[in-house]
Amino acid sequence: MKIAMISDLHTDINEAYPVIELTAARAKELNADVLLVAGDISEDPDRTIREMRRLAEILPDVAVRYVPGNHDMWNKHCPERSTEEIYRMYSGDILCLSGQVSSSADREKNMKVRFTGDIGWYDYSFASPDHSREELDSMTKGGRTWQDKFFNQWTGDNDAACSDQLSRIESQLSACREGPVIAVTHMLPIREFCVPESQEGWGFFNAYLGTEKLHELFRKYPVAAAVCGHVHYRKVLQKDGILYICPCLGYHTEWPLCGLADNEPATHVADAMQLLEL
Ligand SMILES: [Fe+2]
Repeated sequence: MKIAMISDLHTDINEAYPVIELTAARAKELNADVLLVAGDISEDPDRTIREMRRLAEILPDVAVRYVPGNHDMWNKHCPERSTEEIYRMYSGDILCLSGQVSSSADREKNMKVRFTGDIGWYDYSFASPDHSREELDSMTKGGRTWQDKFFNQWTGDNDAACSDQLSRIESQLSACREGPVIAVTHMLPIREFCVPESQEGWGFFNAYLGTEKLHELFRKYPVAAAVCGHVHYRKVLQKDGILYICPCLGYHTEWPLCGLADNEPATHVADAMQLLEL
């Protein structure tokens, strides 16, 4: 079974480029059976749901599944909606893994692969220890505020939001006693994917990238691979028997930093997308 993965398509910020069409074309080229998108599709929940539906329509023979990212959860374009209302929109969407376990069978190999996940959240555990709780709760440092603070009500109590996400993901995983399971979150499950603290401000802002509790949770279940996004890196590493994949497309303004031969959108979609064969 061929499982393609990509994240952080940011279809609005990358509006000048046909990222949905290019993602579909690359998944077809790779002969993918499943395509997983690990969040940050847009900053407007209606648009995110629409874009994922469009991707699934272009790829009728591929099982397209996604989780929302922190940007998808913003109420920037719909201030009348609460974070809970936005979350319910995703958990009611058939293509979204929030609240569900999806599976795909490979008859030849007599194998059933399960896919599950959700946004995940952050508990500040990735921050350097020299920041106070009060500072971290303010989500502001050096005149910069982590944007979730403005557009997501969960930031009023990040600990509660993180615990809630962990218990939701655990209840989904507990329905997957048999593997292999592919876990999908937007937030980082491992510290190794954080931004190096040598980069200005990141000893603080890494606080809002995820939680190692996701890794601890994944280890309790037959999770073969875990996909995430959020940090806009493209990295793969193995930890405690789990293959961790961070396949971010990111903003077009970041593409020149990747050092590829050119900055064509198709080149970056091909570089970001990872293929896992089980
Ligand atoms: Fe992103």
